[in-house]
Order: sequence, then structure tokens, then C-alpha cells
Amino acid sequence: MTRIRITVNGEEREIDVETSRLLVHAIREEVGLTGTHVGCLNGDCGACTVLVNGQTVKSCSVLAVSADGAEITTIEGLAKDGELHPVQQAFWDEFGFQCGFCLPGTLLVTCELLERNPDPDDAAIDEAINGTLCRCTGYAGIRRAIRRAAERISADRPEPAPS
Ligand code: FES
Repeated sequence: MTRIRITVNGEEREIDVETSRLLVHAIREEVGLTGTHVGCLNGDCGACTVLVNGQTVKSCSVLAVSADGAEITTIEGLAKDGELHPVQQAFWDEFGFQCGFCLPGTLLVTCELLERNPDPDDAAIDEAINGTLCRCTGYAGIRRAIRRAAERISADRPEPAPS
């Protein structure tokens, strides 16, 4: 067993993991946050996507020990004080999900996309969601939701102070 220290959704955690433990299993079982889903366990479906130091990572594809010292955001970290995150609200408003299995990963992919590209065009959206498989929506609602989230976040962004 190896002890690692990670910050999950702003909360510091110390957990003991086998060196072969996948990050997705550590998040779900040692940390106890089951919103990160297990799909293919092969790096293909994206259901296990989390943010590690602000970057999307398929948590079935990395060892938990490699995340020692990292800041991790899971789906449970998006809503604050009972309020949906703007990305979550946009997916709700635009019917960007059906069964919801892919949703945690898709939301985190969207957060990362809009952080680095606040006004993504269709090609940038498609590239971002390329690694998250959705078997229900046909992606039309997901694309609408990402566009709506981008509009909402940019409308909420404070104007830069005059120089
Ligand atoms: Fe990790 Fe499918 S479970 S990509």
C-alpha cells in the first residue's frame, strides 16, 4: 500500500492505495465519490473523465499513485451551495443528456474546453467531445448545451476594468 495525498473538490484527502490501483477506482471506493463512472476501463468511452490539475484525464487510464499531490475535480465538485454549475444548467436546459451515464465526463470535458476556449466553434466542440461516447443523444443536444454554456459563462464574466 502507498499513501497518497490528493485534493478532491477542494478537500484534502489522504488515502492508501495499492500501487496498481486505477485512479477511477480510488476515487469511487477510497474517496467514496461514485459520480465518476466506470465504463470501458479501456480509455475509450470517457465516462471516467475527471479534471486533474485542470486537465481532463480518463481516470481509468492512470494509476492513483501518479495523482499524488494533484488537485482533482469530479462531477460532485461542480454544483455549489445547491446551485447547478452553469455548464450543468445548460445541459439541463438543452436536453444535453438522456440516460446520464456519460454526463459526468461530458460536463467536465465541457468545463475544461470553456476554460481554455470561452467561445468554441463547432469544430472545437466536436474535438473536445470526441473522447466521450454518448449512446443516447446523437450529440445534437450536447453541442447545443455547450454553446449555451459558453454564452452563459461569457455573459456572467465581469467586464474588464477600464485601463
Ligand atoms: Fe475510462 Fe471508459 S471507463 S474511458
